[in-house]
Amino acid sequence: MSANQGRESAESTEAATGMDEVWIEGGRGLKGSVAISGSKNATLPILTATLLAPGVYRFTNVPALKDVSTMLELLTLFGVRSRREDGGTLVVDSTNAHNTEAPYDLVKTMRASVYVLGPLLARFGEARVSLPGGCAWGPRPVDLHIRGMQQLGADVELEHGYIVARAAALRGNVISFDISSVGATGNLLMAAATAGGETVIENAACEPEIEALGRFLVSMGARVEGLGTPRVSIKGSTELHVASAAMIPDRIEAGTFLAAAALTGGDVETAGVDPRHLGSILNKLEAAGVSVEASETAVRVRAPKRLRPLSVTTAPYPGFPTDMQAQFMALLSVADGASTIVDTIYQDRFTHVAELQRLGADIRVEGNTAFVQGVDSLSGAPVMATDLRASAALILAGLVATGETRVSRVYHLDRGYERIEEKLQGLGAAIRRVRA
Ligand code: EPZ
Repeated sequence: MSANQGRESAESTEAATGMDEVWIEGGRGLKGSVAISGSKNATLPILTATLLAPGVYRFTNVPALKDVSTMLELLTLFGVRSRREDGGTLVVDSTNAHNTEAPYDLVKTMRASVYVLGPLLARFGEARVSLPGGCAWGPRPVDLHIRGMQQLGADVELEHGYIVARAAALRGNVISFDISSVGATGNLLMAAATAGGETVIENAACEPEIEALGRFLVSMGARVEGLGTPRVSIKGSTELHVASAAMIPDRIEAGTFLAAAALTGGDVETAGVDPRHLGSILNKLEAAGVSVEASETAVRVRAPKRLRPLSVTTAPYPGFPTDMQAQFMALLSVADGASTIVDTIYQDRFTHVAELQRLGADIRVEGNTAFVQGVDSLSGAPVMATDLRASAALILAGLVATGETRVSRVYHLDRGYERIEEKLQGLGAAIRRVRA
């Protein structure tokens, strides 16, 4: 499939699913076990790392998500070919990768496209990547990515909305981030993997997805130490080679299902998870009165009759994830009392508030703090998804609202959740996708 055909098919899919709605009849407690898919946010950077060394890569536990197909479509522009094998293994062939630009019309649909910057610079010595622009909840700068590349010796200009970066050879350096950034840490890890000498990243993101990217780079021959800690050192290597990887489980998908169980008075096991990645989420669920049982690869939660209110503040890992903020707002909107939610990562990631209010939630926002007064029940209504995690929050609210909730613009959901309505049906939810 050519890039254009790829884009047309992606757009036509989006057009089709974009008009789709998800309808939910609330009031059922979720019961049973659900298999959690591979992590979107580990898969996306690892796919771009295949640009670092030519060859054929094999990845397992790769989720079937819109963002993953968007990334594979972007990589197709660079001559990278990919296909799924019968068992679900994703084979990625970067043997004939060549340089070109990451175009605005693709990058604007998925910010993670900026992950190609580091690998392109490392492999080809230059990169032209469109600036991602903003998103539903405000500007999403990439200044830390750019400054990091400059510190590795790249010459970076902004021209007509594009990052234009050139480097005859990248050289190791000490890069100290003034804020923790998942994307910038990932991009710099990949750029530093082939830079001459040693690079030290201070205040590096500790998210499991970045640790997984680092481990993948090690399996490609990079020498990386301190992964999972705020101080990571990388000794660049010119002998990087292909490797394979199994994607780690998606901790945000898992957290979303656990919150859904807690919200609906349910009893649910999430299978194929890594409980070590869920610490802050499980702590908050227990504080709300949910009973939590964790084994090596599964977490089971049993909900109380009524959830206790909470005070939640998001923070970089291992703190409470901003990607769970909207889901917990839905959960706390029916808790027994007043809760506060502070998002310290984004300035106004609250586009879901107005939609939750349509369902009867009592929420007041001041700056980056939401004050949630728990109500006895929500009432179903038509609502509109605005971004990935906000749409998950609306689905969760619909599961507990009386009557029917119709969530529109579900293409947001499909970016980061694999067949969410089927998985929820499997747990007893009255939920279905309606083709518009
Ligand atoms: C990653 O985005 C995730 N996306 C996001 O998940 C997640 O919300 C975010 O990390 C925070 O955990 C992927 O991994 C694909 P950041 P990223 O750089 O890398 C500021 C989802 O739902 N910043 O850690 O873009 C930024 O504005 C998505 O799966 C700069 O100022 O996030 C934000 O306030 C949504 N300059 C903060 O840092 C920069 O150069 C954290 O952003 C970069 C970031």
